[in-house]
Amino acid sequence: MVPDGRAARSESGQSVLDRLADKQLVIVSGKGGVGRTTMATVIGLGLAARGRRTLIATTGHDDRLAWMLGQPTLTDIARPVGDNLWAQRLVPQTCLREYGTMVLRSARIATAVFDNKIIRRLLHAIPGMDDFAVVGKAWHEAARGTDFDTIIFDGPATGHLMYTLGLPQAILDTIAAGPLTKEAQLMQATLSDPSKTEAVLVGLPERWPLTELAELGEALGHRMGIALRTIVVNGIWPAPSTAFADDGSHAGLGDTLEHLRELEAVGASHRAELASFIASDKAQALGLSEMLAVPWRWKGISDRAAVEALWSSLDRDDASVLADAS
Ligand SMILES: Nc1ncnc2c1ncn2[C@@H]1O[C@H](COP(=O)(O)OP(=O)(O)OP(=O)(O)O)[C@@H](O)[C@H]1O
Ligand SMILES: [Mg+2]
Repeated sequence: MVPDGRAARSESGQSVLDRLADKQLVIVSGKGGVGRTTMATVIGLGLAARGRRTLIATTGHDDRLAWMLGQPTLTDIARPVGDNLWAQRLVPQTCLREYGTMVLRSARIATAVFDNKIIRRLLHAIPGMDDFAVVGKAWHEAARGTDFDTIIFDGPATGHLMYTLGLPQAILDTIAAGPLTKEAQLMQATLSDPSKTEAVLVGLPERWPLTELAELGEALGHRMGIALRTIVVNGIWPAPSTAFADDGSHAGLGDTLEHLRELEAVGASHRAELASFIASDKAQALGLSEMLAVPWRWKGISDRAAVEALWSSLDRDDASVLADAS
């Protein structure tokens, strides 16, 4: 049986949020629109509550992250959004400049370089440079910076994320040794160190989306060496309720009950898909230890109260759905 919103507890006895709190970099990914930013915010609230100075850094163009945290907009510099919690939009132009300044180790040289229009245009024209700067900036804050304990990287959706996170290795494979390869090497070392970096994948409780999620997990975990222990299955509809059993006593409710049964049927199909995914070879091959099943919230998740309510429903010590289904 797959329950509604449950906090996963791994074999080690730690909950997902307890475990993620040890990391420097948490990468949240999945397909577009599946709830990546919502889950990045939930994880951010959980880590900040554990005393970790946490930055949620998003590459998204919308302001949902800001709204969920009670702010009007996001800025391209980290702004405090609560105790131990900051939020920022990662803009390639700003990241290139900031990351470049860090690599050049001199604001004076960086000004000379980045204020030169021709150099600036040249840098943006190099394929992958903008994305490398974005991941470089997130990595720098996580691994070298002292302002934050954990960076939650609400990165691009699946395909673009693979490209972006693959850039350090691509640089190592193709460019002669130099300052850039040194950076790429350090970045790659952090990304593939499970004590420092972990990916959390978000998907929907339907057959094809779950299959795609397993493929993304396979690519991130096995091909790119990024630790993956938790999948979040978002938007699970309510479980059938015995209050609406067809025993004749609800005959007068007619159409309303019929609608409720339809809703229940979708919820039941979500659970069946999730249970069969958990038992599938593909899911087993990922070696996951936890899976969060996140309920669909009818009223939406658009403000801080709603996202905090979701967080408190997930930050509990219940058994994981993975353990539950096995
Ligand atoms: N469990 C849920 N219950 C109800 N609504 C949800 C849930 N999870 C996400 N949503 C809603 O779905 C929409 C998409 O969520 P979100 O912005 O987190 O997705 P995303 O993967 O970051 O999208 P994008 O690809 O646009 O960046 C939002 O309107 C959000 O409020
Ligand atoms: Mg988003």
